[in-house]
Amino acid sequence: MNDHARLFYALWPDDQTRAHLKRLQESVIGRKVNPDNLHLTLAFLGNQAKSLLPALAKLIDKLPGQSFTMAIDCYGYFSKPRVAWAGPSETPAPLLELQQSLMQALNAAQVSVKPEGKFRPHVTLARDANSLNEPFAPGIPWRVSKLMLIQSIQVKGGVIYSPIVERVLV
Ligand code: 2AM
Repeated sequence: MNDHARLFYALWPDDQTRAHLKRLQESVIGRKVNPDNLHLTLAFLGNQAKSLLPALAKLIDKLPGQSFTMAIDCYGYFSKPRVAWAGPSETPAPLLELQQSLMQALNAAQVSVKPEGKFRPHVTLARDANSLNEPFAPGIPWRVSKLMLIQSIQVKGGVIYSPIVERVLV
């Protein structure tokens, strides 16, 4: 499937936020995400033809470009895939606006997104994990300033995230 790429759009933490998120992983039992890969997915596209890449890369220029702060202040758990995550207990309005704008742009470009359910912002900390479902304090103030289109490449023993394009939010 060399003509296809597994793609997703994500918010990419700065180094300080990443270090905080890495610390949160210490409380979790499970298959921990490589700390260098910690991110918040805005839209998962799955396998797409590489011929779409220029259009998918260009699409992020049309999205709202304001930076915003989000408090990562609770753990959460998706029981079926056994995913332990951290996220905002309340979704900030600029995050929702950004995610909805992205969905509309993808829809207009006739690119399907999986799954089509309600957006639950989260940073996956570990898979095959035990549940940790509690608030924590103080919350991590994440100044969100980087949006990326990323290709996920399966390699032996893990996954490599290869950035296709990034947009700095200011
Ligand atoms: P996650 O954030 O819940 O871990 C790259 O694989 C990113 O895309 C991950 O962040 C992952 O979700 C998300 N992802 C992978 N497969 C997915 C699927 N089938 N549906 C929705 N999101 C998926």
